[in-house]
Amino acid sequence: MELLGILSPPWWLLLLLLPALLLWAMHRSPWEPHKCPADLTGKTVIVTGANSGIGKCVAMDLARRNARTILACRSQERGQAAVEEIRAATGNPAVVLRLLDTGSLASVRAFASAVLREESRLDVLVNNAGVTGLPFAITSEGLEQTFTINYLGPFLLTNLLLDLLKASTPARVVNVSSFRHSVGTADSAFLTGQRCPGGYDAAYNSTKLMNVLFTAELARRLEGTGVTANALSPGVVSTSIMRHFSWPVRALFSLLRPFMKSAEQGAASTIFCAVSEEAAGITGKYFDSSCRLALPSAAARDAALARKLWEASERLTGLTEQGHPPAPPPAAAGAA
Ligand SMILES: NC(=O)c1ccc[n+]([C@@H]2O[C@H](COP(=O)([O-])OP(=O)(O)OC[C@H]3O[C@@H](n4cnc5c(N)ncnc54)[C@H](OP(=O)(O)O)[C@@H]3O)[C@@H](O)[C@H]2O)c1
Ligand SMILES: *[C@@H]1O[C@H](CO)[C@@H](O)[C@H](O)[C@H]1NC(C)=O
Ligand SMILES: *[C@@H]1O[C@H](CO)[C@@H](O)[C@H](O)[C@H]1NC(C)=O
Repeated sequence: MELLGILSPPWWLLLLLLPALLLWAMHRSPWEPHKCPADLTGKTVIVTGANSGIGKCVAMDLARRNARTILACRSQERGQAAVEEIRAATGNPAVVLRLLDTGSLASVRAFASAVLREESRLDVLVNNAGVTGLPFAITSEGLEQTFTINYLGPFLLTNLLLDLLKASTPARVVNVSSFRHSVGTADSAFLTGQRCPGGYDAAYNSTKLMNVLFTAELARRLEGTGVTANALSPGVVSTSIMRHFSWPVRALFSLLRPFMKSAEQGAASTIFCAVSEEAAGITGKYFDSSCRLALPSAAARDAALARKLWEASERLTGLTEQGHPPAPPPAAAGAA
């Protein structure tokens, strides 16, 4: 009788409501893009990996704010489809595609020189493109593919576009990292595949740590220029990010989708860093998926490690302090 009492309507309704409330609270962010009035008329933004997931939602939001929105994608077909979709949804005709494969330094250089030649300004650069689940492999440029796509390509891209960003201040660099940076290792020998990080999906975790370290060092170097650089975690987001995993892993991921943020919700912290009044002038910081300032892991706050990684990355990409490429020595990557 007592037990049946518990099961009578008001109680089980409450029991149902509780997890629903919990889910809602988990997904809710205190900062919501649609409540932010920022207008980007006359400004130019670049979003890498803008044809799907978080990147597409970010590009959609920035286009809605009237920015000239450059989608930097590696596929002409997928990129153009996103351009059409975003133009149709926002009515903004200044949404354009430029081809970029962050896994190839040659492609990064070609993309950057086209931007420098044809664009008069750059107000926001969102380094969003990223992969996980690819096998450890060395590219024709002698670099490990996941490390190049997620870290070294964006490193070079940002550096090549710095002068244009500085000429368009206040400008912002936004790096999409992950809460998983906290279990990564930043060894520059990973970049060339001389050493291979061990453990489950360790390459991804390590690139996301490098993203935070890079952002910190970049912010230090940009002090006083009016260009800010911040990193963020989008949270656990239901996108196509798991596409390179085996089917059992993908199936498990699918089961968990209802508990994840949608791509729109996952885009909030990136949009926050890119446009919000609250983030204006803030630099070298890490924001969590609720758009709150958070402390990244101890390794991510190690300034000496950040400098070492920066210098190794400069050598590998052939960048010097001045940004002029000498002949890169691809074999000399011993740091960290
Ligand atoms: N989803 C999550 O739970 C989560 C959590 C933490 C961090 N993140 C980060 O969020 C970012 C976006 O991921 P997502 O979840 O939105 O995944 P997604 O749907 O797979 O989107 C990734 C995007 O990056 C692009 N991309 C991949 N490799 C590229 C390359 N070599 N050159 C240019 N573009 C490339 C993809 O283009 P293609 O269509 O051509 O492959 C795609 O547009 C990533 O940096 C990821 O690490 C995601
Ligand atoms: C992060 O930002 C820096 C500049 O902030 C860039 O060079 C780096 O490659 C970016 N990307 C990642 C994804 O770390
Ligand atoms: C990478 O991150 C995932 C998710 O946090 C974790 O399960 C995995 O063990 C990590 N890999 C390493 C090598 O730390």
